[in-house]
Amino acid sequence: MRSLATVVLAAGQSTRMKSARSKVLHDLAGRPVISYIIDEALKIGSARTVVVRGPLQADLGKYLEEAGLEQAVQKQPLGTANAVASARKTLENFEGYVLVLCGDVPLVRKETLEAFTKEVFSKSAMLGVLTMQPDFAAGYGRIVRDLDGKVVKIVEAKDASEDELKIREVNSGVLCFDSEWLFKSLKKVGCENAKGEYYLTDLVGIALKEDLPVVAWKAENYEELLGINTRVDLARTYELLRERINKEHMLSGVGIQDIRHTNIDSGVKIGVDTTIMPYAFIGGKTKIGSNCVIENGVVIKDCIIENGVHIKAYSVLEKSHVRGEAVIGPFARLRPDSKIGRKAKVGNFVELKKCEMKNGAKANHLTYLGDAVVGERANVGCGTITCNYDGYAKYMTIIGDDAFIGSDTQFVAPVRIGKGAVIGAGSTITKNVPAGDLSLSRAPQTFSKGWSKRRGDKMRSKK
Ligand code: UD1
Ligand code: CA
Repeated sequence: MRSLATVVLAAGQSTRMKSARSKVLHDLAGRPVISYIIDEALKIGSARTVVVRGPLQADLGKYLEEAGLEQAVQKQPLGTANAVASARKTLENFEGYVLVLCGDVPLVRKETLEAFTKEVFSKSAMLGVLTMQPDFAAGYGRIVRDLDGKVVKIVEAKDASEDELKIREVNSGVLCFDSEWLFKSLKKVGCENAKGEYYLTDLVGIALKEDLPVVAWKAENYEELLGINTRVDLARTYELLRERINKEHMLSGVGIQDIRHTNIDSGVKIGVDTTIMPYAFIGGKTKIGSNCVIENGVVIKDCIIENGVHIKAYSVLEKSHVRGEAVIGPFARLRPDSKIGRKAKVGNFVELKKCEMKNGAKANHLTYLGDAVVGERANVGCGTITCNYDGYAKYMTIIGDDAFIGSDTQFVAPVRIGKGAVIGAGSTITKNVPAGDLSLSRAPQTFSKGWSKRRGDKMRSKK
C-alpha cells in the first residue's frame, strides 16, 4: 500500500457559528470537534496529518502546536482548492495519497474512511470522492453521473441547474488524491463560479478530461458525515455522538437506563455491570469500575471510581478517587483531591475538599471537611466543620482511626485528634486531643427551676 497523508481543512471563517472561538475547537463530548477526525485519520495509518487553518485562528494554532500536529496557514479563505494548496509546502516531499477531510465533520468513523480509501487504492484512482445521500441535499455539491452511472463532475449547489439540484447523491467533503497529481492540478482550478472561490471539487472534471481514473464511493450512513456549521448542528452532532457512545458502553456490558438522557464524554471508561441512571453526566478522564451504581443527576468529572461504589442521586464529584464499595450521597459534593477509602460513607450535604476519608470512615450528614484526613472507621457527626482557612493560609485537620466526632464540632486547624478519641457534641476544638481521650469545649449545662413561669408572670404584669 502507498503511504497516506491527511489534510484537514479548517480555515473557513465559520461565520454561522457566531463565536469568537474557532468553530473546530468547540467542545463535543469533552473534546474539541477537530480532535475526532484527526484521531480517525491516525487510526487508518495516516503517516502525516496537516491541519489547514486561517491566519486569525491563533487559538487553533496553539491547540495544534500543543497536540504536536502539523499545521499550514491559508492566507485568505479563497476556497477549498486554495486551502489544500496551502498544505503543499508542508507536504513537499511526501509521495502517496492525500486524504482531504473537513475539521467540522467529526463523526466519520475509521471503518468508513478505510473502506473508501481501499476502493481508491484498489482502483489506482487519481481521485476519489466519498459521497452520501442525506435526506436533504441542501447546500451540498451534487454528484453528476452519466447514464452508465459514471461520475461526470461535481457541481456546487449555488452553480447547479434546477435538474442538477434534484440529484440526491452529494459530495461529503472527503476526497482522496494521488499527491503528485493533486498539487500539480490545483494550479488548473479557476474561480469562475457563483461564489468566486477555488473549488476543490473542480478537480473531478479536470481528472476526467485527462482520462484519469476517478472513484465515487457512496457511504452507507450519511449521518456520520454531517458537518457542523451552526450551534444547532453542534447540538445535533452531539446527540448522535451521545447515542454512539452510550451504545458502545451498553454493548460492552454497562447498564444505561435511558440512552437519550445520559451524558458520557468520549474517552470515559466504565466497567461491566455498572448501572447508570438517567440525567447522569460523566465527563473528562473519568474511569469507573464494575458493579457500581451511578444514580440520577450525578455529575462526575475526572474521577477514578473503583468497583462496587454506589453514588446516590445529585452528587457532584470532581478530580477525586473513590475506592471500592464506598457509598456517596445523595447530594454529596467531592471537590478536587478528595480520596474516599473502601466502604467509606459520605452522606447528604457533605462537602469535601482535599480530604482523605480512610477505609470505613463515615461523614453522613451536613458537614464540611477541607484539608483533612479522617482515619479508618472514624465517625464524623452531623454538622462538623473543619475551619481550615484563617483568611491567609490553609491548615490540616487530622483525625485518627476509630475516633468519634460528636455532632456540631468545629475543628480550628491545624489540629490533630488521636486514635479512638471522642469529641463531645457542640465542641470547638483548638488543641490537639491525645489518643483515647474525651475532649469537649462546650459550657456546662445549667438549670433554673421554674424560670419559664416566673418570666411569664413578669412579662404579663408589664402589659
Ligand atoms: C464543500 C464542498 C461541497 C461538499 C461540502 C460537504 C467545495 C467547493 N465544496 O462545500 O461539494 O458537498 O463541502 O460539506 O469543496 N475551508 C477552508 N478554506 C476555504 C474554504 C473552506 O479551509 O477557503 C474549509 C472549511 O473550514 C471547511 C471545509 O473547507 O472545513 C469546507 O468548506 P465549506 O465552505 O464549508 O464548503 P461547503 O460550501 O460546505
Ligand atoms: Ca461546510
